Amino acid sequence: MTKCCINPSILSADFANLEAELSRISNADAVHVDVMDNHFVPNLSLGLPVVQRLQEISPIPLDAHLMIEHADRWAPAYADAGVASVTFHAEASIAPIKLARELRARGSKAGLALRPGTGVEPFLDMLGELDMLLIMTVEPGFGGQEFLDLTLPKIRRARAAIDRSGLQVALQVDGGITADTIFRAAEAGADVFVAGSAVYGATDPADAIERLRVAGSR
Ligand code: DX5
Ligand code: ZN
Repeated sequence: MTKCCINPSILSADFANLEAELSRISNADAVHVDVMDNHFVPNLSLGLPVVQRLQEISPIPLDAHLMIEHADRWAPAYADAGVASVTFHAEASIAPIKLARELRARGSKAGLALRPGTGVEPFLDMLGELDMLLIMTVEPGFGGQEFLDLTLPKIRRARAAIDRSGLQVALQVDGGITADTIFRAAEAGADVFVAGSAVYGATDPADAIERLRVAGSR
């Protein structure tokens, strides 16, 4: 059985107590940090200064998800901050191959994210430039939305392409992942699961993580 990775999203955490909120998920594989600029998505969350502090205090690695325009310009600074994994959106990058190389050169893992309506096929030739592919399973912008089943065929096609390539590329899903939906995403081939409300909405986040881990392993 392959053990899956659970990356809780701090978008659903208490923003006034982020250090304490991180300590509640110390059994997670990484903490998913949603950066939103109110342009790429219609919501504003947090930016580089907060991520820099989180990087200094977090007991687990940071998985930054940049939902921001002009990713080519802004993403490298997150790698410079020491963030373990930096994911930018394909729709927000002019030169994704160049950007992925810059992130790796700065010591971060490079992730490429796709909105639900963006096809995966145009990006398959650049799998070798990536450490992670993120298939959004809701329209990005808000936590607590319903999982979009229409993304399952894309997850399957991405899994098949990654397996064919023989490359070590993680396949992350983000949005609407709960104890009820995680099976479907795992069965389709995802191996890294972001969960915001399902973890921070639970009375015991650490227990919710372990339950999701069991349900998402295959
Ligand atoms: C949505 C964010 C997600 C969000 C997930 O745009 O990228 O990471 O926090 O939240 P849930 O798990 O509640 O859908
Ligand atoms: Zn996210």
